[in-house]
Amino acid sequence: MGLKKKIIVTGGAGYIGSHTVVELAQAGYEPVIIDNFCNSRRFVLERIKTILSRPVECYDCDCCQIDLLRKIFTAEGKIHGAIHFAAVKAVGESAHKPLLYYQNNLGSLTALLTVLQEAQVPYFVFSSSACVYGAAKSPVTEESPVQPATSPYGNTKQIGEEITADLVKSGAALKAISLRYFNPIGAHSSGLIGELPLGAPNNLVPFVTQTAAGLREKLTIFGNDYPTPDGTGIRDYLHVIDLARAHINALEYLEQSNAAPGYAVFNLGTGRGYSVLEIIKTFEQVNHLKLPVVIGSRRQGDVAVLFANPDKANRLLKWQTKLTIEEALRDAWLWQKSLAAQT
Ligand code: NAD
Ligand code: UD1
Repeated sequence: MGLKKKIIVTGGAGYIGSHTVVELAQAGYEPVIIDNFCNSRRFVLERIKTILSRPVECYDCDCCQIDLLRKIFTAEGKIHGAIHFAAVKAVGESAHKPLLYYQNNLGSLTALLTVLQEAQVPYFVFSSSACVYGAAKSPVTEESPVQPATSPYGNTKQIGEEITADLVKSGAALKAISLRYFNPIGAHSSGLIGELPLGAPNNLVPFVTQTAAGLREKLTIFGNDYPTPDGTGIRDYLHVIDLARAHINALEYLEQSNAAPGYAVFNLGTGRGYSVLEIIKTFEQVNHLKLPVVIGSRRQGDVAVLFANPDKANRLLKWQTKLTIEEALRDAWLWQKSLAAQT
């Protein structure tokens, strides 16, 4: 006790955050969650405890509330670093409620960074998104230009990166990384944690698993007239466990890279794109199921192809994905079934 490096994990009860908390604890860090449960549930904490055979500390707090953050930091004492997952993330909703997105995503970031500075916390990791690349030609490297955001949500990621970079540039005693996630899918292989189905899903794989479970009548493919080999959109899907592990590599990089610049961005993806049809086919094969599928029109804001060049993360973070698309789609289905068994 007391010797482990404490890492504040905002949004640590959420999908990516909960898996990262588990990986952090298993790697010998002491994660401390701050979450207001606006898109997660308290039972996640029990599940994390079951996986780890010990509890993880959690504060029920809105990260926009700087005075509450200050109290937490005072109570916790020495903090080694922070990973900022807390954000609202529904692209469509963000167009209707832009102020909620700017206030929540940027208000929480600026409040957290202020408190990190006050407490002289040296390391910070920001959850960004591959959506900053817009319709750039894939594979995208970190040098591919950031495109004007097509949604307020996407804009909060771009501005969030800039706020973080500007703070480091200002000479603050803080080193930081923005991680541009491609498409996280799957769940913990225990079936205990995964993405919670709060509201209608926004992403392909939750739609697939809910359709397979009979919760949705059919899966709609958003367009089969894209300039891709089978006409459907191509993305870079990575297992959420691989994504979670990358946060530990990012912390280690920040700890070790004394000569490196104080701020860097990294793509986190596999480097391989899969089409919507390939995802459906693979899901059906690994889980021995058949999905009812129809072709619909394109979804507004979608690009045809987006996948990563992950060389920079491979080289500097010494990170690469280990789990396959088959494992991810098997674990996604396992998680869907375990959810069904609970209700
Ligand atoms: P999630 O909704 O499952 O988790 C976010 C967590 O943050 C939730 O537990 C929510 O309750 C909490 N939260 C939100 N606002 C908060 C606030 N003001 N104070 C305290 N807690 C707050 O989402 P996720 O998929 O785990 O995403 C985590 C991060 O990764 C987000 O920043 C998201 O924008 C980013 N991201 C996600 C994806 C993806 O496909 N899931 C892709 C790219 C980037
Ligand atoms: C979406 C978001 C993006 C976010 C990312 C990860 C939009 C416009 N973009 O991107 O900002 O960073 O999720 O959270 O919402 N698809 C179907 N049928 C479905 C659902 C999806 O065919 O029911 C297709 C999509 O058209 C796309 C692919 O599946 O080609 C993947 O979709 P999705 O999982 O939503 O991810 P992104 O489009 O990458």
